[in-house]
Amino acid sequence: MDKTALNNMLRPKSIAVIGASATPGKIGYTVVKSLLEAGYKGKIFPINPHDSEILGLKVYQSVLDVPDPIDAAVITVPAKFCPQVIEECGKKSIKGLMVITSGFSEVGNHDLENQLVEIAHRYGCFILGPNIVGILSNSDKLNASFAPFLPLAGKASLVTQSGALLIALDAATYSRRVGFDKLISIGNMSDVDIADFIDWLNEDENTTCIVLYIEGFKNGRPFIEACLKAKKPIIALKAGVSSHGAAAAASHTGSLAGATKIYGAAFQQSGVVQATDLNNLFDRTLALSLLPPMIGDNLLIITNGGGVGVLATDAAEKYGVPLQFAPTDVQAELKKHMPEFGSAKNPVDLTGMAGNEWYFDSVKYSFAHAWVDGLVVLYCETAMTNPMEIAQSIKKAIDESEVQNKPVTVSFVGGERSNEAMRWLVENGIPAYAAPDIAVNAMGALREYARMRAMIAEPIMVCATTNKKAALDIIAKARADGRDSLTEIEAKQVFSLYDLPVTATDLAHSEDEAVQLAVKTGFPVVMKIVSPEILHKSDAGGVKVNVKDENGVRENYRTIMANARAYKAEANIHGIAIQEMAPSGTETILGSVNDLTFGPTMMFGLGGIFVEILKDVTFRVTPVSKGQAARMIGEIKGAPILAGARGEAPRDRTALADTICHYSTMVLDLVDEISESDANPVLVYEEGKGVKVVDARIILKKK
Ligand code: ACO
Repeated sequence: MDKTALNNMLRPKSIAVIGASATPGKIGYTVVKSLLEAGYKGKIFPINPHDSEILGLKVYQSVLDVPDPIDAAVITVPAKFCPQVIEECGKKSIKGLMVITSGFSEVGNHDLENQLVEIAHRYGCFILGPNIVGILSNSDKLNASFAPFLPLAGKASLVTQSGALLIALDAATYSRRVGFDKLISIGNMSDVDIADFIDWLNEDENTTCIVLYIEGFKNGRPFIEACLKAKKPIIALKAGVSSHGAAAAASHTGSLAGATKIYGAAFQQSGVVQATDLNNLFDRTLALSLLPPMIGDNLLIITNGGGVGVLATDAAEKYGVPLQFAPTDVQAELKKHMPEFGSAKNPVDLTGMAGNEWYFDSVKYSFAHAWVDGLVVLYCETAMTNPMEIAQSIKKAIDESEVQNKPVTVSFVGGERSNEAMRWLVENGIPAYAAPDIAVNAMGALREYARMRAMIAEPIMVCATTNKKAALDIIAKARADGRDSLTEIEAKQVFSLYDLPVTATDLAHSEDEAVQLAVKTGFPVVMKIVSPEILHKSDAGGVKVNVKDENGVRENYRTIMANARAYKAEANIHGIAIQEMAPSGTETILGSVNDLTFGPTMMFGLGGIFVEILKDVTFRVTPVSKGQAARMIGEIKGAPILAGARGEAPRDRTALADTICHYSTMVLDLVDEISESDANPVLVYEEGKGVKVVDARIILKKK
């Protein structure tokens, strides 16, 4: 989109309020008052058909009557007047149009909303909203909204889909002491969307951290691209846990996909740190907006109390920054700044006797030490110490260490004196929190950000041999038969075109052919019904495993055919698949589903009851890099099973990660054809022995 429109909205030199009112209590009055009270330095033009002056400003009947050029307009007229007003803005070349008015797509009035965009675009103008609160910017003293005041000044900038949340957060920035430069309400996103603002804020010198409140949007790929390009941290709180997005589920994967999982996957892949709730959003934003990322795994905790040290240690495990013992040189030096009964291991316990000097010495030394990648300093209020002095010692130590590329967070546990000291720390650029686990959680966000940035720099691994044309031929044949799914045999043929290690499978059309193929494959074999109308083969009695000899093949051939006929008399039966009987291994599942927001996504999890009952699965948006594949394998609850739990040999996670990458290539390559797919089970063998895809399902997009 045209960047000047966003420049005009966010940094206007002049602004019209269309629907400005002289009546206190009306939104059109409040917006003019907000602009004046915030100290906006540009020109304000109130537009109203019958007033001559509002809050001391000259009123015009239409923007077309204003002699000066106008950068932006805030529109607060009822919905039915908006098209005409936007037409006039177009004629006046007002590029940035912020439509506060409600009553559009959010209540099903899509046509009127589309009409606004169509008119605006005709004139090269762009619409923010409709259904917004407006835009607030500290650096431009701009409160073009009906939120009460500019937020506490700071370096984070918020883009929110909920206007009400903007108003609530605006006031909370003061009570939470988390500073923001801009608050942007994005409303129905009829035109300008979140990705556009991410791009703009990425270039904004007054923003160090982009904060998003997301309820849901349609166009996920531009969002991912904008996040990947961003050079500053992005943190998102995603509201709503309802299932959405996936097309009607015909596969396992489809039934397990849901908004939270898919958005979570997209956030991870695009380097977006997540917040779990509003408090967490504030806490993590404070750290991300003030501090550099934590590059490296070594977190050191310094405390004067064992209890808070233990709480912080637990939190470190939970939030992805588990503690290691400090190296001996660090321990030896720190031992000099504590009594005999202190501990220098990690957490470093200076004991309740710790005063300003011990804090100063130990913080200064450890923050500068090459082993330390991040520091959390804890303090419990004691009668012998003054919290403000401790805070000042910490700050002085950090400054004197002259280290600027590492993060430090602080937690003081105590009363009002501690709160006051923490306020001072925050004002001086050091995030401070009232509980140790929160200080560690904030550090976890900084570590997570660094990890994700490293991961998104990885190249995407593609299959050695992709043969899209051959895959499309198989699909075209199925479509020519009037089918919208592939048989297992066809699905496996497609899989193997993308380097997926499927079990050898042939189709027998008769009992004799079944015997021939079984002999060729080698006993024992697996026999499975092949019919496009029988997707759940086991339910139909259509699967026999471990068939050991010719007699078994003949007997089972007849039984399977009879079962299939009994299950669905009219089913079109292609024959019976004769498959190699794969040795047993750890069962996993891979699959794909098309999400309405993010397009092709893929799933991985442990198979069998793990997927059926525990739903222990994880998702990614395709394509999936090898690092992401490894991360998928490591993040499911059942990960220790693959790592080799209880004396079992570790499974071949390298081969599994390759398989995930290849699957992702297939899904993306055939995005126009595949609606959903499963590889279930995928058996994983001991390290070095690979994986085997035993069953395959591909559901085609309806055309
Ligand atoms: N040009 C200029 N001014 C006009 C025009 C026009 N073409 N037509 C009407 N006006 C004036 C009116 O005369 C009136 O001014 P007045 O008080 O001097 O008479 C002013 O525009 C407003 O019009 P009203 O008919 O009085 O409408 P009202 O102020 O009651 O409501 C509003 C308008 C605020 C846009 C309303 O329709 C609306 O959408 N409210 C909801 C907005 C909202 O909450 N948005 C954020 C959602 S996010 C969240 O939930 C917080």
